[in-house]
Amino acid sequence: MNKRYQQSSNWLERAEKTIPLGSQTFSKSRIAYPKHVSPLFIKRGENCQVWDADDNQYTDFVSGLLSVSLGYCNKAVDDAVIEQIRSGVTFSLPHQLETIVAEKLVKLIPCADMVRFGKNGSDATSAAIRLARAFTKKEHVAVCGYHGWQDWYIGSTTRDLGVPEATKSLTHTFKYNDISSLEQLFYQQKNQIAAVILEPMNTHFPEDNFLQKVKDLCQQHGAVLIFDETITGFRFSMGGAQQLFNVTPDLATFGKGMANGYPISAVVGRKDIMMLMEDIFFSGTFAGETLSLAATKATLDFMTEHKVIAHLEAIGEKLQTGLARIINDLQAQHWLTLSGHPTWSFLVINAQGDYSAIELKSLFLQEMALRGFLLGGGHNLNYSHKSEDIDALLSAYKEVLDILLQTIEDKDFHNKFYGELLSPVFKVR
Ligand SMILES: Cc1ncc(COP(=O)(O)O)c(C=O)c1O
Repeated sequence: MNKRYQQSSNWLERAEKTIPLGSQTFSKSRIAYPKHVSPLFIKRGENCQVWDADDNQYTDFVSGLLSVSLGYCNKAVDDAVIEQIRSGVTFSLPHQLETIVAEKLVKLIPCADMVRFGKNGSDATSAAIRLARAFTKKEHVAVCGYHGWQDWYIGSTTRDLGVPEATKSLTHTFKYNDISSLEQLFYQQKNQIAAVILEPMNTHFPEDNFLQKVKDLCQQHGAVLIFDETITGFRFSMGGAQQLFNVTPDLATFGKGMANGYPISAVVGRKDIMMLMEDIFFSGTFAGETLSLAATKATLDFMTEHKVIAHLEAIGEKLQTGLARIINDLQAQHWLTLSGHPTWSFLVINAQGDYSAIELKSLFLQEMALRGFLLGGGHNLNYSHKSEDIDALLSAYKEVLDILLQTIEDKDFHNKFYGELLSPVFKVR
């Protein structure tokens, strides 16, 4: 046990007495970071820096699972929230901010004629699916990527405990950039598919006009096309991946970075479909909560004013280019794979030599944390990351990937890794 993480360990022991897993979120928990050699609890953050329970400082490339798009404690956003606090948080009638923010989204997002708000990405994707089922009067759905914790989606993963078989049988997965896998579903579930929902991009860019082909298939078979832009929204462009790739879906869902960490999500889309919101049931006490709406307004204004996306792209390209060079110099292309969009990119560590991907990634995270970098599966950039942060990350990569290579060659993983191995929940990307 590394003394550097003593308080994290103590807090984990305490938390697990009252909180299963000691966390509300799998991706933030002890199974996502190797125990004893990683920080497990955060005390505070500022811009892209965070401090753990032991007061160790990190440059955070997880960015609150991509919910933090501008940086921790962004002043413009927090000032807007504080001003709103002074006049009330949750009311008994709708607040004008709901309309003001909805109008903003309609202006920015190509498919958005109308808008409804929720709190989590899962609220938005689940509402979109219910809407599509009501609109088409069909029940089956095709999914590609991650879409949240609700039954209709999670039943299609290996973490399906507690989901009724009847629900599971209605959800089918298809593969990104493999149009025949979707064609097959339309063939197998003839005239039964209500919706096709996909992340318009995660690890790989669309190839061979994939997104347009998905849209064509949906039109041909009378299914509603939903882009899950929970991550890509306000990241790939202000109008989301649909604007970047110039393919407009029927509905789209947003969440994560739209309010710089405040909890809000949105379903947007075509008026004729969205109007059915008046007939289905999607309704919640906190859906019009004003602090997150004020945060959304301030975040979107800040993004436009400061050209946030151009900044994310510039530093993201620098990171991808620099990392590709390091991998090339190490001649490690066959076990280290780079992918993704500059603003949300990935280094995938594959099995190599005697060691599994899990072993190598666990060692990687141990060494990165020691050097003051908090990383998960990817590089989740936010506006407060500056060019110098990328330089520092690349220097750490150089050292740590070299350690991995040496470990593989010397076959001495057990002398180098001091923690508990990662145990990821499931892989859907
Ligand atoms: C693409 C995508 N959709 C939906 C969700 C679910 O969002 P939430 O965790 O806010 O419910 C996520 C969360 O990671 C996501 O990445």
